[in-house]
Amino acid sequence: MADQDPAARAAELRALLHHHAHRYHVLDAPEIPDAEYDRLFAELQALEAAQAGLLTPDSPTQRVGGRVLEGFTPVRHAVPMLSIRTETDTTTAGALAFDERVRRELALPPEAPPVEYSAELKFDGLAINLRYEAGVLVQAATRGDGETGEDVTQNIRTVGQIPLRLQDGDDALPEVLEVRGEVYMRRDDFERLNQRQRDKGEKTYINPRNTAAGAVRQLDPAITAQRPLSFFAYGLGEVRGWRRPPTHALTLDALAALGVPVCADRAVVQGAEGLSVFHQAMGTRRDQLPFDIDGVVYKVNDVALQQRLGFVTREPRWAVAHKYPAQEQMTRLNAIEIQVGRTGKLTPVAKLEPVFVGGTTVSNATLHNVFELRRKGVRVGDSVIVRRAGDVIPEVVGRVGEGARAPYVPNFRMPRACPVCGSAVLRERGGIDHRCTGGLFCAAQRKQALLHFAGRRAMDIEGLGDKLVDQLVDGGLIRTVPELYTLGMAKLSALERMADKSAANLLAGLDKSKATTLARFLYALGIRHVGETTAKDLARHFGGLDRLMAASAEQLREVNDVGPVVAQSLRTFFDQPHNVEVVEQLRAAGITWPEHDGEAPDKGPQPLAGQTLVLTGTLPTLTRDEAKALVEAAGGKVAGSVSKKTSWVVAGVEAGSKLDKARELGVPVLDEAGLRALIDGQT
Ligand code: IVH
Repeated sequence: MADQDPAARAAELRALLHHHAHRYHVLDAPEIPDAEYDRLFAELQALEAAQAGLLTPDSPTQRVGGRVLEGFTPVRHAVPMLSIRTETDTTTAGALAFDERVRRELALPPEAPPVEYSAELKFDGLAINLRYEAGVLVQAATRGDGETGEDVTQNIRTVGQIPLRLQDGDDALPEVLEVRGEVYMRRDDFERLNQRQRDKGEKTYINPRNTAAGAVRQLDPAITAQRPLSFFAYGLGEVRGWRRPPTHALTLDALAALGVPVCADRAVVQGAEGLSVFHQAMGTRRDQLPFDIDGVVYKVNDVALQQRLGFVTREPRWAVAHKYPAQEQMTRLNAIEIQVGRTGKLTPVAKLEPVFVGGTTVSNATLHNVFELRRKGVRVGDSVIVRRAGDVIPEVVGRVGEGARAPYVPNFRMPRACPVCGSAVLRERGGIDHRCTGGLFCAAQRKQALLHFAGRRAMDIEGLGDKLVDQLVDGGLIRTVPELYTLGMAKLSALERMADKSAANLLAGLDKSKATTLARFLYALGIRHVGETTAKDLARHFGGLDRLMAASAEQLREVNDVGPVVAQSLRTFFDQPHNVEVVEQLRAAGITWPEHDGEAPDKGPQPLAGQTLVLTGTLPTLTRDEAKALVEAAGGKVAGSVSKKTSWVVAGVEAGSKLDKARELGVPVLDEAGLRALIDGQT
């Protein structure tokens, strides 16, 4: 590439970018991740900037992508739908650069006070213009090329979150109000959709963004209706007969009051410092958000200042997108290996050419199981897309392009014998998972059982990581979990590369882990279907281990959320003398926890105890009665009106005066997802 003639490279890049823009915007079938497209785009921009003659009028850098799909009626936007400049420096320097530019363009002297900005999230979906006339949704259009988009009104009408009618407030409804925002798909909705695809044996979708965009641009609205889409407003188009608020932040508040979904994660901040703080804060929260964002957006808050700043070509000078590291990248699949898990499950793992994605270097990614692998059609040697979003394990989502590959690359097959211990590999009838039948004979299962036992949420044994477990098991030092507590300095020092200091650390970690809780101990045992929450529920209910071990399946089912499967799994576990022996050995090693008499009848966790909630509007999935039951089961009360004593207001679509009252009194407002998170104890 380096020694290529710049003109030839520019031509090549133009052709590539045209091809990929077409795949993305028109066919809804991108072949490369966004980050790769951005890189090619930036390379072309750099070439064009460096050498005057290289810029051609048809260069992809000269227009906003997108073309009208055949089949949709074109819509000419009353006010063009602009795009925004992207600050690709993902460090806080991006915020500084924007603020500096704004100050320069406004000719502000250095001593002038900081500029006020509205900072918001950059939602990763599809831009939509919603046109309301006299409060009624009359048209929805995609951005298209910014001048002309596609009429997707029928499809958009199927999106439950988008009001078909604006809410009446104190003021009359505007004659014309165009609301601009992003249609997107929540991660949990995306996962559920993909699970349904897997259940049907159909191809899974690559990511929430493409799936949302594809759903909006479906020619059959019945298909759109089956896709769980969401919406957030972030701006305005044409406005007639409505007094526009003087700032961007107030504009979003006004839209929320009209019943349009507006994201609560936004802030009014001062100057570069405020922008950097927001960028950092959202960066750390990015993984916990229920939807994907690829950055944040900064906008000069004062509308009068926005007008003074104006536009350059198709981009406003008063706004910028500030990105975060991409969560998808392209790389080469070097090999497919098999990993054996704690329960013997065999997982095909992609060995990748290391690539920086989602903030870390990834060289392994899960391929889930052999069926998923076949559906994705990836083979060794392919260029693949790797995704790492949140703390989810990195996965290979698909193959890049559809071109031919070397004919000799064989299709992947699951081995018949465990690659670790040689035991037979079986697949349950009708199941998808292959399992090694070696049990604790299999070193891989033993290692995983030890790692699970020592894990942060289980016994939390500091100093016991993968490498050490490998050494302990491979060196034959321990075979079972209780043997961990029989390790001494002498045995440990015999290990290769084990310094006295790390040996002492591990011994201290083991000692410290002995004082624990019943919930942690139960979880650490790795009983099938007993996760952290169930372990906590069991501990709370029974108070002591002996009572729990003696409980019948029926008695176990009295515990909150314990059904027949979990109850049976517990019984099976404690009915095996071998397991009881392990428990006794661990107790004998000195593991203790406080016990109590148990509580019956179990009321389950009461995270809302002492709190009063008010429900208003229509929630996406819960009826009023269901929401009330959920709140009460969590120990909360539901009241009919908002007062200073109200702890939370749960607002759905078309929430009315109660929401206004909540805002007035500063009572925190939640949506349905927020309510669920509160009950699950995540807030
Ligand atoms: S403002 C004139 N705000 O990012 C400003 N855009 O090029 C117009 N986007 O495709 C855009 N979140 O769909 C704005 N909070 C946000 C956004 C946002 C996502 C998308 C938008 C557009 C692209 C910007």
